[in-house]
Amino acid sequence: MNIIIKDSAADASAAVADVLLRQLAHKPGSVLGLPTGGTPLGVYANVRQAHEQGRASFASATTFNLDEYIGLPAEDPASYAHYMRENLFAHVNIDLDRAHIPSGMAEDPSIEAARYEALIAAHGGIDLMLLGLGRNAHIGFNEPGSAHDSRTRRVSLTPSTIEANAGYFEPGARQPSHAITMGIGTILECRKIVVLATGLEKAEAVAASVNGPSSEDVPGSALIWHPDTTFVLDRAAARHIERAKIRELEA
Ligand code: GLP
Repeated sequence: MNIIIKDSAADASAAVADVLLRQLAHKPGSVLGLPTGGTPLGVYANVRQAHEQGRASFASATTFNLDEYIGLPAEDPASYAHYMRENLFAHVNIDLDRAHIPSGMAEDPSIEAARYEALIAAHGGIDLMLLGLGRNAHIGFNEPGSAHDSRTRRVSLTPSTIEANAGYFEPGARQPSHAITMGIGTILECRKIVVLATGLEKAEAVAASVNGPSSEDVPGSALIWHPDTTFVLDRAAARHIERAKIRELEA
């Protein structure tokens, strides 16, 4: 596991955008795993700018989003499908047939989850997965207690996650209690993983994920087992990482 600590959230976002841009330059037909949430907004802004300046092409790329709320149609402003259109897909030259997001409106979410899992496998797996981290260290919507070998599936959201994400919903809008998420096992099969976490409210989740021990209570700690995971943090999010851990990684 690598840890990169930047002075600011803006610098951390730029560093993660750079990883994505280098991946596309190195392999234009890359399969990318993409997150949503407030944290990656700066990454997508950097990528949009690079595309505008002719420094990034998604013409041959395929993307798989991590998760989607059950019960929200793609047109709903709080859906992750809407988020991705607004923040990335509408602004770059991606073929929308190759920009995959689980359907939150599937009649049977378990069948949709199995279809999604099979689609990822049919594309030969994911080259680069970008991840955010929930305040309770969830990755995708894998809440504490998720098995480290879990696959794409329907999950219930914890009250703390529902509360943390309430701000993304219009006042009075119905907020879903379930989602379809890639599993932790699915995520661990991605060839390279980059986690972006910024701000003090993520410091405990980062520390529990990075310091270990690895446990199902801390979904982010599953990444300890992955051979090519990098945490990109700002100083606030890095605050509780053990000094020994940083020295060990610097050695
Ligand atoms: C949601 C998403 C996660 C994301 C998390 C953190 O729960 N399913 O993939 O990492 O929110 O969001 P934020 O970046 O807004 O703190």
